[in-house]
This record gives sequence, structure tokens and C-alpha cells, in this order.
Amino acid sequence: MGTYTKSNSILAPLWRAVPLNATTQQVLGLERSEQRAYLENLWHFNHESQPAATANHTDLYGSSHGIGVRRRFNQLPCTVASRKARADLLAHEDPANCRILVLGDDDLLSVELAQRGFRHVTVADCDQQLLARIRAETSALATPPHIIAADFQAGLVWDGKADVVFLDPPYSLAGAAAFLQLAIGSAAPKARVFLMINPYVIGRDFSRLIAQAVHAGFHLKQQRPAFNSYPIGWFGATILRLAWRYLLGAPSDKPTPRQLYFCSDCFELSRDQVS
Ligand SMILES: C[S@@+](CC[C@H](N)C(=O)[O-])C[C@H]1O[C@@H](n2cnc3c(N)ncnc32)[C@H](O)[C@@H]1O
Repeated sequence: MGTYTKSNSILAPLWRAVPLNATTQQVLGLERSEQRAYLENLWHFNHESQPAATANHTDLYGSSHGIGVRRRFNQLPCTVASRKARADLLAHEDPANCRILVLGDDDLLSVELAQRGFRHVTVADCDQQLLARIRAETSALATPPHIIAADFQAGLVWDGKADVVFLDPPYSLAGAAAFLQLAIGSAAPKARVFLMINPYVIGRDFSRLIAQAVHAGFHLKQQRPAFNSYPIGWFGATILRLAWRYLLGAPSDKPTPRQLYFCSDCFELSRDQVS
């Protein structure tokens, strides 16, 4: 079998020769049952959930996902509604005091938070172009985010502690674990960590990520399924339609929406006492 795939993968023969983005490579490496679960999850999201998160899919600052074959730093900006819903998670926090760290921000959450008056937002990402955009979008604000350019593979130099950490990690176990470790290391004693991830992409190894957080004293306070949605480019959407039809056997009489979305859950990890 190809380097991306395990021997019992159902998707392998289709895509071995295609240059694929990291998330797709990760899915190709899953086992057959895990791939089915992934495809079913996205099928239901696109056909049945009709979530509010997809109501306005325009990216305020312009989308950069292109056709979706290869993605810059694995970026896939979420909908505006998803970004706002994330910021709403902090509705009860005090904008003057709450210390927030955003690890990876192609979704421009740091902009949203700064616009809402949060004064202590730190955002870190490896993409200089993205960081320049965040700087430009927030330069007129009284308290723009503190911006750190960092490749997390080499670590993150930040001596602060955050009350809230948001992370949107790459979809591989190693990538997600590395982002999560930085989040854990940057968290204040009673911090909340919001991990945005589609667990089906990681497969059964996902439990290892939660175990990593538990090992550091966190517990899973809440899982919000399909909290975020991300408009997919036409190439990715075409692959998805083919996979649903021929690998999942999805009913062909069910109309498929023109715009398809990827989705992720929101895992809230907390160090507060379990009530
Ligand atoms: C990893 S992407 C989100 C992945 C997405 N949820 C998906 O579909 O796979 C989130 C942000 O992390 C940033 N990023 C990716 N790799 C990074 C790294 N090694 N160090 C720092 N930031 C990184 C990207 O630039 C992007 O803005």
C-alpha cells in the first residue's frame, strides 16, 4: 500500500498518487471503520444538521483556502458564525482582566476578541502573512493582540500564563499533541482550554489527546459537537461527494448542498474542580 495508508484502508486506491493536504493524508492513514465514521460524520453534518454555524459562510477578511488540494500551513478558515460562537464562549469573562492565548489563528479569533474589548489577547502562529493581517485588522484598536511569530515545532517563547487558551491544531496525532502540550504549559492553574478538532480525523487515537490533558490535571468539562464549520474548496468537495457516493453508499436521491463544509467539535478542558 502507499505510504499514506494502512492495508485495510478503503480510500487508498483512489488517492495514492495525488498531492494531498495533511488532513486528507491523515484520513487516508486511518483504518476502514474509522474512515467510514469520518465520512458519515461529515455526511450528516452537511445533510442533516444545517447548523447555524453555516448560516453566513463569508470570511470577513477574505478566504485563503483556494481549491483545497494543498493548504498553506494546513489552513482552512472557519465561518464568521463559528468565529463569533467561539468568542461567545467568553461571554462571562471580564475583558479587562481575562488573559487569552490563541495558538494558531487562521480563523482570526484574536481579531474578534480584540474587537470585543478583550485587552490581554496573545496570538501565536507561524504564518507571517496571517500575523501581518491580524496586526493590520487590529492596529486601530486601543488594545490590539500581542502577536508572536513562532513555529511550534521549535516551541513557543512566551513567559505569560493564560486563563483561557484556544487551539486549532493540525490534524495529526503528533501535530495536535504538540499544540496541546503548548496549551497545557501556558495555562494558569484554573485555566480553561478550548480545543477545536474533528475527533474522527484522528480516529481511535483521539483518546490519547484527552489522556494527555487529563495527565496534566485537566478534565473534559464539555464537548460541543459540530461547533465549527469551515467552507471547503471545490476539489475537497468533489472528493467528499465521490467518497460519500462510492465508498459510503450514501443515497443518491438525497440532494447534496452546493457548498460543503468541514466541521469540528469544541472540547472544553478545565482544571476547575469537577462539580
Ligand atoms: C493548523 S491550522 C488548522 C488546521 C485545521 N483545523 C485543519 O483542517 O487541519 C491552524 C493554524 O495553525 C497554524 N500552524 C500550523 N502549523 C504551525 C506550526 N508548526 N507552528 C505554528 N503555527 C502553525 C496555521 O498557520 C494556522 O493558522
